[in-house]
Amino acid sequence: MESTTFVLFGATGDLAKRKIYPALYNLFVDQKLPPSFSLIGLGRRELTDESFRANVEQSIDMFSRRKAKNPELMENFLRKFRYSVLNIDRKEDYQKLLRLIEHREEELRLSPNRMFYLSVGPEFFGTIADNIEESGLGSANGWKRLVIEKPFGHDLQSARDLNQKLSKAFAEHEIFRIDHYLGKPMVQKLEALLQSNPVLRAIWANDYIANVQITANETVGVEERAGYYDHTGALRDMFQNHMLQLLMMLTMHLPNKSNSEMVRFKKKMVLENLETLQKQDVSANVIRGQYKAGTIAGKPVVGYTSEPGIASSSLNETFITARMQIDDFFWRGVPIYIRTGKRMQEKSTRIVIEFKEPFKKVSQANDDGQVPNLLVFEISPNERISLQLNTRDPQHSGKFKPIQIDFHDSHEDVPEAYENLIYDAFQGDPTFFAHWDEVELAWSWVHPILEAFQENLVPLHLYAAGTNGPAESDALLAENGHHWWFDS
Ligand code: BG6
Repeated sequence: MESTTFVLFGATGDLAKRKIYPALYNLFVDQKLPPSFSLIGLGRRELTDESFRANVEQSIDMFSRRKAKNPELMENFLRKFRYSVLNIDRKEDYQKLLRLIEHREEELRLSPNRMFYLSVGPEFFGTIADNIEESGLGSANGWKRLVIEKPFGHDLQSARDLNQKLSKAFAEHEIFRIDHYLGKPMVQKLEALLQSNPVLRAIWANDYIANVQITANETVGVEERAGYYDHTGALRDMFQNHMLQLLMMLTMHLPNKSNSEMVRFKKKMVLENLETLQKQDVSANVIRGQYKAGTIAGKPVVGYTSEPGIASSSLNETFITARMQIDDFFWRGVPIYIRTGKRMQEKSTRIVIEFKEPFKKVSQANDDGQVPNLLVFEISPNERISLQLNTRDPQHSGKFKPIQIDFHDSHEDVPEAYENLIYDAFQGDPTFFAHWDEVELAWSWVHPILEAFQENLVPLHLYAAGTNGPAESDALLAENGHHWWFDS
């Protein structure tokens, strides 16, 4: 791996503490950081290098999957860290930053490869990119990369504007857009599983698949993010990015030989073939919901509109189910159901593939015990793959009995999403980052839904916290003779 300077904007922020420092530390312990590495943390606050390092150490103690047990190791890690005050609008601060980076590059004999990680609000992306360009921070003789977090725009137009701003300073191949769902180990496994298993490849089509269910349920509510969430909602916060990424990863058909360009090309094709909903058809295919008071794990919780910072008249959605179709050779006719919600009964991200039952006779008694074959990918909180098959129940002759073939990684020390993604960014591997084409197509697809919500063309159904969402979400599947699997 080439030597790298990691320039972190927002170094005193929450994401840096919870995710970025723990990820870097774990990569360091696993010897997956570039051997020559320097980190410059940037923030508005005055901090000495020592107190910056103490904060980093503390966040590793609090949030890392591995605790900092070895003081020598920790010291070696922290030695790479420096801090500099930066006001995003102040040009001189970028000059000062440039001098510090160059000084460290000289001191550590690093090639001038620079990775700019923007762990700040998207409203600052454009200004920072401009200043990187103007100050000459990015025009050294090495490579430069820009790593950014969602949200990438608020709608199609703002995403386009943002992309235009960024592309003045960075080429597409230099931009790494993080969607942390793409870093989840099971999501990364999907690509290999679907590519390298002839058994799966053979049945990955409408001849065999009855429907696909993709769920990302959370038990948390709006938390302390009222200001952000109330003008974002589940559609923008989860659906446009994470859920559509899961859909692409699951349904793309990769050829035998593939690389990151192929993955991105095939993902893009999925979105291009996704049947567009007209604004007037949204209410027939999309359910929107908002949680009301209820009980989570035995504890009473308030409804969305009683959360601090949320207006009592808010119509913002905290839940969405959509029924979709991919109009291509493989998927035509297979309903795809996507659901995500806050304050749901359990925290669970999973994909269920329900297979058709061509041998089941209509006349066959319903209580013969036979169930559809199901292939389940549990993405979080636990990783698991299971396949439901039918066998005979020796106790009750004549009846079928479902069995589950189960796989879960017994290796508990699984890297977290951010470790995988930051490692890939160091390597310059864009496979598990969102390409602009995907982001743009995803915004285009949700556009009519945003409009329909805005114009109140879709009813807002209230659901009690701690449930599986509004009954209308179940009814949507029932229209096709389906139901959500594993809802208790
Ligand atoms: C974030 C959303 O992108 O993903 C949050 O902004 C959500 O609202 C989170 O809680 C869920 O991530 P995970 O990894 O816990 O499923």
